[in-house]
Amino acid sequence: MKSMMGAKAGSKTPKRSPGKTPDKTSKKTPGANLWAGRFQGSMASSMERLSISLSFDRKLFREDIEGSMAHAHGLKAAGVLTAAELATMLAGLKQVLSDLEAGRDLFKPSDEDIHMAVERILTERIGDLGKKLHTGRSRNDQVATDLKLYVRRQAETLEALVTGLQAAVYRKALEYKSALMPGYTHVQQAQPIYIGHYLLSFFWALERDKSRLRHASVSAGQMPLGSGALAGSAFPYKRELVAARLGFPELSPNSIDATAHRDWALEFLGAGAILGALLSNYAEDFVLWSTQEFAYIELGEAYTSGSSMMPQKKNPDSMELIRGKSGRLLGNFTRLFTVMKGLPHAYDRDLQEDKEPVFDTVETLGLCLTVMAEAVDSLKFRKDEIERKMHPGMLATDLADYLVDKGVAFRDAHHIVGRMIGKAEAAGTSFLDLPEAEWADIPDGKAFRKKLTFAYSAERRNIQGGTGSASVKAQLAKAKRILGL
Ligand code: ARG
Repeated sequence: MKSMMGAKAGSKTPKRSPGKTPDKTSKKTPGANLWAGRFQGSMASSMERLSISLSFDRKLFREDIEGSMAHAHGLKAAGVLTAAELATMLAGLKQVLSDLEAGRDLFKPSDEDIHMAVERILTERIGDLGKKLHTGRSRNDQVATDLKLYVRRQAETLEALVTGLQAAVYRKALEYKSALMPGYTHVQQAQPIYIGHYLLSFFWALERDKSRLRHASVSAGQMPLGSGALAGSAFPYKRELVAARLGFPELSPNSIDATAHRDWALEFLGAGAILGALLSNYAEDFVLWSTQEFAYIELGEAYTSGSSMMPQKKNPDSMELIRGKSGRLLGNFTRLFTVMKGLPHAYDRDLQEDKEPVFDTVETLGLCLTVMAEAVDSLKFRKDEIERKMHPGMLATDLADYLVDKGVAFRDAHHIVGRMIGKAEAAGTSFLDLPEAEWADIPDGKAFRKKLTFAYSAERRNIQGGTGSASVKAQLAKAKRILGL
């Protein structure tokens, strides 16, 4: 009988209960490890330290309790709980939730994870009824449900932060919509562009990051509860009802898939890593452009820091940190990916490693997006410096294009202009300042030389998506609509 009844207080063999010293009160029933029934001895303390996840998965307490409340409704519909039992259980869970939300520390060192902890606290408070909560449920479907709920919520929060960054980018693009700057490829001056056009490139990329986050949320939209450990619950559990309560649009179609796979978490981490790389690219531009050599921009002082040794320094630390965090975000993706790769396809304890990368990506991205938005708001472009450094060579393509308009094949035009550039370089001047004789091959060369300005070049590019001011205006209008301004 002993094996069916579990540990009795005062029994000689200590039951398996994580925590250095077996907890006496916990042995009365709820506290001792909830799976301890079939064990004789206790877990090695080294093994406990490896096993216990409460230190990090306590972050899921809301999702876990909300999941349990919905599960209780499912049990009532299945006839496992009476209406009165459901009410008592819900009231108990609600109380645990509000206590934890208020910051009360209800946890014991013997709690293995958040799921066990909540169940123990509940059972201590409402008595034996608490022991019915886990009917037809395994921590395998429970933990997948909790983390999916978490990912879905956080994806939404991050999406809102991305929109906040887009709004900052939009405001800055509007401010500098008609200021020119060099556009770069290979960090070499390439063609003149409007600063607004450069900034809007950030906006559109962020729009795709949002859709990646949304898609991760869709992939995490299939509710696992009812899957049990792997084969499905044996009770007539109302999965639709539970899913609706938790806001899941779908039910997982297969109980093994529901408990084994973490593709949706990987997708979320992948979206985070890609977004991190984008932030890093822009951060790098801002670092470079705030050097004395470029001196194109000034970051608000609040987003820089000084040197402990060199009094003159104003370092773009915010941007460097954001650039650095991209490594961490990619690390979170690869960390889970590496855990997943080669796992037997069912729940394996390795999967306990799924949570920390997700938590870290949420926290890291939240910070980076917030700082980036504020830093963009604080950006000042130094138009005088930018203008001074714009190289006339950036107009070479426009001269070649002009020759094309005059009937020269582009390859020949490229060659003619290339020769002029070579001569100018040898003479230590710009092709625009070559003696008139060098422009003799250009039809109406004299008049065109006057016309050939950076603004002329930009305005030739009013093709949809180009840098021309009409295109920038159209982009701004579209961005404004997206932001609902
Ligand atoms: N703490 C575990 C996790 O995060 C919960 C699931 C444990 N399931 C099990 N069969 N041991 O994955």
